[in-house]
Amino acid sequence: MSLLRVDASIRTGGSVSREVADSVETAWRALRPGSVTRRDLGRDPLPAAAWADAVSVGQTPEAERTPEQREAVALAAALADELLAADAVVVAAPLYNFGVPHHLKAWIDLLITDPRLAPGTAPLTGRPLALVIARGGGYGPGTPRAGWDHATPYLLQIFGAVLGADVTLIEAELTLAAVNPAMAALVDEAARGRDRAHALASETGRALAERTAELAA
Ligand SMILES: Cc1cc2nc3c(=O)[nH]c(=O)nc-3n(C[C@H](O)[C@H](O)[C@H](O)COP(=O)(O)O)c2cc1C
Repeated sequence: MSLLRVDASIRTGGSVSREVADSVETAWRALRPGSVTRRDLGRDPLPAAAWADAVSVGQTPEAERTPEQREAVALAAALADELLAADAVVVAAPLYNFGVPHHLKAWIDLLITDPRLAPGTAPLTGRPLALVIARGGGYGPGTPRAGWDHATPYLLQIFGAVLGADVTLIEAELTLAAVNPAMAALVDEAARGRDRAHALASETGRALAERTAELAA
């Protein structure tokens, strides 16, 4: 039984998405010790040119491929191996500039160049995936920025509809309330939201571990 943990925050200290993913991981480890693989895209981003090289292979005869194209295909295959080997997955992502972190988008784009993960194959069907989102502001219904979070719908679509995983969404928002004086009135609401996110993360970590054991039985 293995859990693949993917982090995308460019912060290591003080990262809310990492802390909430820690709660998923801790609950998982309590039932499945020693079975977590890390892919830290925030700390170790993938090479920026790899995706274009991997895509261009489709129009390049085998004998004419450049070393860069071959490396990109091998990297995509290694990432796909890592994802496909996981019984469960946790992806932790901040909202950056109203969208998905580009390090995470680069991982997804590269993965999808591998034929095993091409759209239409839904290779993660039935596999549980916890999606942790951290947002500095608030995007709930009726708020001025409702609908401005373009990361969460995209990630739900990719991991759920395209890759076929069974996604549990764990959201922590207003994370900038503690440091932005303009958001001072929202500090308590932010703290309550973070507590709820950690509680759901712990519950989800346990559920992922139990679910993978059932699937293996
Ligand atoms: C470059 C950058 C862009 C950001 N853009 C947004 C944004 O568009 N909307 C938002 O609500 N928060 C935004 N934030 C705040 C982050 O979403 C927030 O700090 C979140 O907690 C980051 O995740 P982390 O705590 O895991 O690092 C941005 C932060 C950074 C550093």
